[in-house]
Amino acid sequence: VSKQEQLYEGKAKRIYKTTHPELYWVVYKDDATAFNGEKKAQVSNKGMLNNLISTIFFEQLAQAGVKNHFVQAISDREQIVRQVSIIPVEVVVRNIAAGSMAKRLGIEEGQPLAHPVLEFYYKDDALGDPLINDDHVYMLQLANEQQISTMKELALQVNSILVPFLLDKKITLVDFKLEFGVGQDGNVILADEISPDTCRFWDSETQEKLDKDRFRRDLGGVEEAYQEILQRLGGQQHV
Ligand code: C5P
Repeated sequence: VSKQEQLYEGKAKRIYKTTHPELYWVVYKDDATAFNGEKKAQVSNKGMLNNLISTIFFEQLAQAGVKNHFVQAISDREQIVRQVSIIPVEVVVRNIAAGSMAKRLGIEEGQPLAHPVLEFYYKDDALGDPLINDDHVYMLQLANEQQISTMKELALQVNSILVPFLLDKKITLVDFKLEFGVGQDGNVILADEISPDTCRFWDSETQEKLDKDRFRRDLGGVEEAYQEILQRLGGQQHV
């Protein structure tokens, strides 16, 4: 498989076509952005760290029976994935109140939630990714009813797999965002990435933040936090 023309450049990744009709080539960038692209910086090695971390999660999930787009990591910053057409909905699952939900509902950050809370956001930069519900997803024709229920089921399944997996490594999975795609066979599968850019990870003993909130909130030590996550997951950075 070799890389062909670029298909898409996102904030954190570039996607290329390949010589294989069913595969894409993903390059993870070092660019960090927050607040819908208003805040921008480079975080050295972030592309490598997220590629390696995402690989570990996708492999773990595949083993646990959650089909996803990941095929193979091919270099420090690159991976091959199955071609899917991304459903423009960000699916967020929360176990502990934090970030936008804590703010929106006036709940103190760190409050554990009795049940996981699932949210949909419309992936649209111009609108600032608004919070939407099932009816909006359906009305906007972003997904059909079957696809909506598959996304919900899979998101909660991912949560129940990753919570204990991470806790074993002394990491609390506070919340995370998933994206799904429709494969060439018409099935909905997990896609995009799972990394400290898209999850809130807290040290389960000290509650120290080990994710992108260090960048969003100017806490410093962004690269070190991502390295810590990789290390706890048993991965190794190739320097
Ligand atoms: O900001 P908010 O609290 O809604 O984020 C919930 C979760 O979704 C966090 O883990 C955050 O990293 C992730 N997220 C994301 N991409 C976005 C918005 C949120 O990965 N565009």
